[in-house]
Amino acid sequence: MTNNGSVLPWGSPSFCFRLFFFVTCLVPLLYFLSMYEWGLYSDRLHIVTGNLTILLWHWPFGPSYSLEGDVCWDRYRIPGCRLVDQRSLYPSADLVVFHHRELMTGQERLPFHLPRARHQTWVWLSLESPDNNGDLKPFNNVFNWTMSYRRDADFTIPYGKLVPKDRDTGNYSSTQGYIPKNKSPLACWVVSHYNPQQKRSLVYNSLRKSIKVEVYGQLEGRVLAPTNLLPTISRCYFYLAFENSISKDYITEKLWRNAYQAGAVPVVLGPPPDDYMAVAPPNSFIHIEDFPSTTELGNYLSQLILDEERYAGYFAWRRSHQVKLYTDWRERLCSICSQYHILPAQKVYRDLEAWVRVYCCPLVAK
Ligand SMILES: *[C@@H]1O[C@H](CO)[C@@H](O)[C@H](O)[C@H]1NC(C)=O
Ligand SMILES: *[C@@H]1O[C@H](CO)[C@@H](O)[C@H](O)[C@H]1NC(C)=O
Ligand SMILES: *[C@@H]1O[C@H](CO)[C@@H](O)[C@H](O)[C@H]1NC(C)=O
Repeated sequence: MTNNGSVLPWGSPSFCFRLFFFVTCLVPLLYFLSMYEWGLYSDRLHIVTGNLTILLWHWPFGPSYSLEGDVCWDRYRIPGCRLVDQRSLYPSADLVVFHHRELMTGQERLPFHLPRARHQTWVWLSLESPDNNGDLKPFNNVFNWTMSYRRDADFTIPYGKLVPKDRDTGNYSSTQGYIPKNKSPLACWVVSHYNPQQKRSLVYNSLRKSIKVEVYGQLEGRVLAPTNLLPTISRCYFYLAFENSISKDYITEKLWRNAYQAGAVPVVLGPPPDDYMAVAPPNSFIHIEDFPSTTELGNYLSQLILDEERYAGYFAWRRSHQVKLYTDWRERLCSICSQYHILPAQKVYRDLEAWVRVYCCPLVAK
């Protein structure tokens, strides 16, 4: 602003007003802001200067793994991450991770009797679908962060994902080269726990009226040895990647390993198409919700294999990407360090139950 004619600036009323405003409003505001900034910064300072200490309170499902050396760096090239499982290190832990299953069964308890350092956060860990997490009400108001396959969890640990290929090992002139040869069954399904009431069973029973589905697993007494699983599926044109539970983002190894890695086009039943679109390449899967009936789905599959080029289009991602599966708890826990910097400083899951039970868009078998 220019000084309009007044020779002495302190003589102008607007200057007095501005000075008054500055002293009464801005100074306190700046003071509080700096306190806030400083508070935030001091909470986060240890990340910059030292290692982040992650204490795993108990190992998921029992078996423990070696945490010798700098495990996150040595195995996964993640720096500044100290992953430990000795409870004696609790006072110095930045994060304490609790796997839900053992808390749910009562095998393990939360250490409410121990004082919690101001910056220490408790992390709730589960890879189960909501219906396998039991009653979550006792865990409301306890955890600061969540760790699950959900995209909206604080730490997202998917069952798998597609990553760009390090180098192209194939030497194919067309996408055809990326499709396993000698395909014979049209559609295959592997099911270990068949429950006739589940959506996936209803859809299967309806779909098999229009196409032949090869079924493996206990249902038909054709249990596949683990080493036989992928070779068997690779001979199928389509794999029914039907999740046993339908809930937000619940997309398991049925998609990543059984279908994508084996080399069969996944026909998916699970969360809505948008959830798949968010993590999987377009035109790489067939979602049952995109068809008005299983008859039409069956017709589509039968027609698709007659059009080689169109069928091959479902494998286009294989030229540039490969499947990365997550199976090691250490890798999942180390990934906290690469996701940590984007988290809010203060957070409490007041209603963990409600957060977990976000069911979305129930599927109707048509
Ligand atoms: C971080 O951890 C590594 C490996 O355990 C260790 O060598 C290094 O001294 C630690 N750094 C700090 C600042 O504690
Ligand atoms: C890749 O294919 C091209 C053309 O078919 C051929 O000339 C070349 O030798 C192949 N490279 C390898 C590594 O097989
Ligand atoms: C973590 O959650 C507890 C409630 O269990 C809360 O008192 C504490 O302030 C939270 N800490 C952070 C850093 O969010």
